[in-house]
Amino acid sequence: MVTGSASLHLSRRLAESLPADLTAAEVRTFADGELYVRVPDRLDGEDVILVQTTYPNDMLVELFLLQDALWDSGLGSLTVVIPYFAYGRQDKRFNKGEAISSRAVAKRVAINANNVVTVDVHDKRAMEYFDVNAVDTSGMPALARYLGDQGVDMVLAPDENAARRAQLVGDLMDVPWDYLKKERIDSWTVETEEKPLEVKGLKVAVVDDVISTGGTIASAAKIVRDQGAKEVVAGCVHGLFVKGAEDRLKSVDDVACTDTVYSAHTRVSVAPEVAEELRRLI
Ligand code: R5P
Repeated sequence: MVTGSASLHLSRRLAESLPADLTAAEVRTFADGELYVRVPDRLDGEDVILVQTTYPNDMLVELFLLQDALWDSGLGSLTVVIPYFAYGRQDKRFNKGEAISSRAVAKRVAINANNVVTVDVHDKRAMEYFDVNAVDTSGMPALARYLGDQGVDMVLAPDENAARRAQLVGDLMDVPWDYLKKERIDSWTVETEEKPLEVKGLKVAVVDDVISTGGTIASAAKIVRDQGAKEVVAGCVHGLFVKGAEDRLKSVDDVACTDTVYSAHTRVSVAPEVAEELRRLI
């Protein structure tokens, strides 16, 4: 297993659990910001797993360079694990003239890969954009493990897109689930429709695939609080936490995410689910 610089924590857990030998690629940044990568190990004939999350943007470039370094080095096969697949939310043309960004990234990834494994891509349709065998595994069982230990009574999706995720977490924890409806005004602004919820006196987890600005979760959390919830926990698979997100999330009691993007809010690992997928593939 080769890890890029964005996925050291998850790679260690994956390597332990498979098990596999782990090596960290050498990565340097030139004065102008361009990246340099090198994988010094001899990997002749080996089935290699490359793990690299693609946030922030530089990590995507690092992934492409690492794939290039490995691809024609005489290895047996290359399986690329992308714990957070960036650009996944722009998976169609919402307006004429737009790029289908997730397709652009997927096609580039597929050039130097035999298999691709992602975790909770925003929409599974994006998997069709990879021109190689590509599977998406869920980070929701990991979240359910953490939230179950915290005594959460109910799971709520902050928008319709996240409803199937909330349902999965709720079912795994054997607690009720519900969802809200949200309208996105711009990157920083969302409006969530009010709706009566049975949350009085409960510990509620608001779960989503991604937290970026924190606006979606904060808006849902306000509705839940106003209706008498005792505690609100924000849960997501991919915690990006862009500037200002921490302030917006002050309205919740705990923020929990997985290690697809490692942060101070990482509480649980997706390693068991990703390792299972890798065992099936290789
Ligand atoms: C979009 O539909 C996603 O599932 C998330 O709801 C969104 O990316 C969260 O972004 P933010 O934290 O900026 O509201």
